[in-house]
Amino acid sequence: MKGIVLAAGLNTRLYPVTVAVNKQLLPVYDKPMIYYPLSMLLMAGIKDILVIADPYNVSAFQRLLGSGEHLGVKFSYAVQWIPRGIADAFIVGEWFVNGSKCALVLGDNVFFGPSLEKSVAEASQLKEGAVVFGYPVDDPRSFGVVEFDEQGNVISLEEKPQQPKSKYAVPGLYFYDNHVVEMAKALKPSARGELEITDLNKAYLEQGKLRVKVLSDDLQWFDTGTHDSLLHASNEVARYQKETGHYVGCLEEVAYRQGFIDRDQLRALGMRYKNTAYGRYLQAVADGLV
Ligand code: G1P
Repeated sequence: MKGIVLAAGLNTRLYPVTVAVNKQLLPVYDKPMIYYPLSMLLMAGIKDILVIADPYNVSAFQRLLGSGEHLGVKFSYAVQWIPRGIADAFIVGEWFVNGSKCALVLGDNVFFGPSLEKSVAEASQLKEGAVVFGYPVDDPRSFGVVEFDEQGNVISLEEKPQQPKSKYAVPGLYFYDNHVVEMAKALKPSARGELEITDLNKAYLEQGKLRVKVLSDDLQWFDTGTHDSLLHASNEVARYQKETGHYVGCLEEVAYRQGFIDRDQLRALGMRYKNTAYGRYLQAVADGLV
């Protein structure tokens, strides 16, 4: 399975912070935001990853992440010239997907918690159809919302409904089979002129091929779309790391634990940031102390 991180968009809700900088390059506590969603793909065992960015910032992502070789993975880059919606990622990335199964993660979604690895590893095993997640939130109106019947079957999916039919938001992490590009190409733009990811998921639902897994409540999920949610995510990452002694969104650690790089490579990566707590953490992981 391949993976796409979508880190484009204008991020107008964070102006003036994002006038000159892509949101996904901003820090969430001690790492660039994109580390968190990217770590989800590595955790799912995905090593071939396309980063889609806006034209002004793609070079910054290339400077930040490079070829991926240092992590034992391969990063490719593409530009979304016009913000045409999330499902457009599969049209921009058609050459990359090239008939494979493909996961998509939004560059501003931060997840962490003990059962995460199991959830994404299971989802990445999908044979056909699509797997997405449901996560209960207090106010689901800014998200895709999934409604279940009493047996847990999906009844409906709606994008940002004014009157949500459930409290379950659909986070920005999606796993699709190898029909995803043709399904995305068949979508019609929504009223706001975008190819909606919820419409792609609805197309799978109509074919009876959508599974929605409810994420366990030991997990935390943050969409970092507003100043308050960004600050909240930073505070929660800081709190979690200090309480547990484990980092979240640490690409080098995930690559090491997945066996993509060995202990010596991890040590060398730790040396690169040796004046920081981050670098010392990588050394501690390499020494088996974490
Ligand atoms: C997007 C999707 C929405 C999803 C959300 C998750 O919304 O359209 O379905 O629930 O991401 O972060 P956005 O945050 O881009 O408005």
